[in-house]
Amino acid sequence: MNLERVSSAEETRRAVAEARREGRTVALVPTMGALHEGHLSLVRAACERATYVVVSVFVNPTQFAPGEDFEAYPRDLEHDMQLLEAEGVDLIFAPNVDSMYAADATVTVDPGPIATVWEGATRPDHFRGVATIVTKLLSIVSPDLAFFGEKDYQQLQLVNRLVRDLDLAVQVVGCPIVRDRDGLALSSRNAYLSPTQRAQALALSSALEAVAEAVAWGERDADVLRETMLRILSEHPDVSVDYATVVDGTDLTELGSIDGPARAIIAVRVGNTRLIDNAAVAPSAHEE
Ligand code: PAF
Repeated sequence: MNLERVSSAEETRRAVAEARREGRTVALVPTMGALHEGHLSLVRAACERATYVVVSVFVNPTQFAPGEDFEAYPRDLEHDMQLLEAEGVDLIFAPNVDSMYAADATVTVDPGPIATVWEGATRPDHFRGVATIVTKLLSIVSPDLAFFGEKDYQQLQLVNRLVRDLDLAVQVVGCPIVRDRDGLALSSRNAYLSPTQRAQALALSSALEAVAEAVAWGERDADVLRETMLRILSEHPDVSVDYATVVDGTDLTELGSIDGPARAIIAVRVGNTRLIDNAAVAPSAHEE
């Protein structure tokens, strides 16, 4: 078995230092485990670009609010390890909460204004928790490259800013969303959906497809695109909409018209499960 498993920051630093002495390029794929094809696509991208791949598996309590699903969040480290070994990952860093956070830890990373909108509006401390744990993981592993999925689009933009604003010496690589054959974006939280709810959840990808199609047909008015998404989502009785809108792809400000690359973003609740999805929206080159 080539996959090494460690649980402390110290062991991780030692293993990475050894890999560096061997001249290897180091990649980090941060995860909360319960790995699926979406995570594995990040791992594969990391294996293509680096010669020493570290995957962290840590369900980070500070990004969950009281009453959210921290306790219920799916965990299966043995299965995750099997999947990661098959992909040729070198190191799995799976710390416990006490080793990651001192009982009297008080310093956190302020994620700035991008954390106050969309996901941040509904989950006020979520991105502070994400910014803090990502900074800690980058500090422990000090990778050349770090891989994040576009599925959590706002998180990806936050991490881009974090790395830029704090001058962290790592290249952030964003990877495309992986979808089931029927269009549902892969997420560990899909496991919470009943078959009926899962069918209703297809409203998200349908709404995003409709927006992409409308833009391809020349629609530029973001209000019309928002209405298109809301109409499709409202046709699904179990889907309650948190937001469905079109934003600037970098700073996530809401747009009035589509004049360049943008992002359609959606968050809904299906039963008790919160689902998010997004898609790139851009006028085709010949129309601009
Ligand atoms: O995207 C996730 O799984 C988490 O937010 C991350 C980046 C691993 C931080 O806990």
